[in-house]
Amino acid sequence: MSNKYKEYQSKMREIADINHAAAVLGWDQEVNLPEKANQIRSQQLATVAGIAHEKFTSDEMGVLLEDLKEDENLDAKEKRNIKLTKKSYDRNTKLPKSFVQEMSGAISESYFAWHKAKDENNFAHYAPKLERLIEFKKKQISYLGVEDHPYDTLLDEYEPEAKTADLEVLFKEVKENLVPFVKQISEAEQVYDAFMFKHFDKDQQWKYSLDLLADIGYDFKAGRQDVSAHPFTTSFGSQDVRVTTRISEENLNEMIWSCIHEGGHALYEQGLPVEEYGLPSGSAISLGIHESQSRLWENNVGRSLPFWKAHYSKIQNAFPEQLKSVDAEGFYKAMNKVEPSLIRTAADELTYHFHVMIRFEIEKAIIEEKVKVKDLPELWNSKYKDYLNVDVPNDSEGVLQDIHWSHGSFGYFPTYSLGSFYAVQFYNQAKKEIPGLEGKIEAGDCSAMLNWLRENIHQYGQQYSADELCMKITGEKLNFKHFMDYAKDKYSGIYGL
Ligand code: CO
Repeated sequence: MSNKYKEYQSKMREIADINHAAAVLGWDQEVNLPEKANQIRSQQLATVAGIAHEKFTSDEMGVLLEDLKEDENLDAKEKRNIKLTKKSYDRNTKLPKSFVQEMSGAISESYFAWHKAKDENNFAHYAPKLERLIEFKKKQISYLGVEDHPYDTLLDEYEPEAKTADLEVLFKEVKENLVPFVKQISEAEQVYDAFMFKHFDKDQQWKYSLDLLADIGYDFKAGRQDVSAHPFTTSFGSQDVRVTTRISEENLNEMIWSCIHEGGHALYEQGLPVEEYGLPSGSAISLGIHESQSRLWENNVGRSLPFWKAHYSKIQNAFPEQLKSVDAEGFYKAMNKVEPSLIRTAADELTYHFHVMIRFEIEKAIIEEKVKVKDLPELWNSKYKDYLNVDVPNDSEGVLQDIHWSHGSFGYFPTYSLGSFYAVQFYNQAKKEIPGLEGKIEAGDCSAMLNWLRENIHQYGQQYSADELCMKITGEKLNFKHFMDYAKDKYSGIYGL
């Protein structure tokens, strides 16, 4: 290894240390923060993030990357690390400091206005701030440059190399295939799930949730679980990956799905190679691939009959009264109930993608300047009627429901659907390669599944792009057909179609 590359490595690790220290502060903010501490904590976070940013965008780093770019002695992994770091360096240095500061101010204003508007069901209060933030995003696009479509430039931050044109094709297939299938389900006899909404004691759920995480292979020696308002996963390095869950005493679904979902994200982070700490080869590929890991555990493993054949007696023992007249199959059907609804985060495995499609179409229309901010509620409501046949009663539960736009996170939503579609394609491949996979899961052993993910995905960090990884594992690019076939097979069984 060349001396320059060693220098690069040590600089990157130092920056990672600083970023992870900021992550500890952020985790603590969500989990433990006393009432008065908000302002000082935001200040501390901004200071630490600023130090990391300064180090990363220094001229010294620029020269080092420029030199290493030309170094023919690097091996393939090292070359890719330099290439990806240089891309991120360019992205960070193309934006003038004054612009970044002004946009960060616009984000704060927009976030607070959104919060108030959502509480008071008053879109007009938020509209001017959102409008201003969108102008900043357009300016950001012009600083960063456009190849095919300006929306690609925003997507690239969350899903590197993703293209608007490909997403258009993907969501067209969702529209043509999934929309009519969900309609067919809605006309069938509905599944019974009332027992999921009885009273479930908080402490009892907490105890059970730790078992559930252990059952899928989460390593408690390299992490811990806590409670927060919005469940999340955060990593301080692959030997310390934290998850949080949310517990509702009136809805058993919340704890189960946030545990398995965040657990899936955490298994990816715990599986990244320790020796590549701080480098692209030691970090996750994209939000879409990250989501493929959470969704694979949540939907393909966690919402399957084999998994509950193994684990149902445990949850039934935890809640004997509530679940006394329900068997594993009844439990499996209840957790897979399909029902078009207003709120994305509460949506089932199928209609979830209509929520994402609506956001994608609206974001694209915003960037293409085909819709004005003041008309967003109307556009939102008409799309909910079209795709979900749902009437939106007010903007708080409509166009104001998600935090993402208030943060300026345009281009983020599509990664949720990409993740679910990748998950099915990966899971199908795992079934082909692991003899008797579902039998093992039914016997209570998820280790073969986890080892396959470790070997085929986690260990590589960013050595492959999302496209390359999918090709390498499954022999083809992302193909919606796999998701659709899976959906038809599973839900025809549940709904007797
Ligand atoms: Co997720």
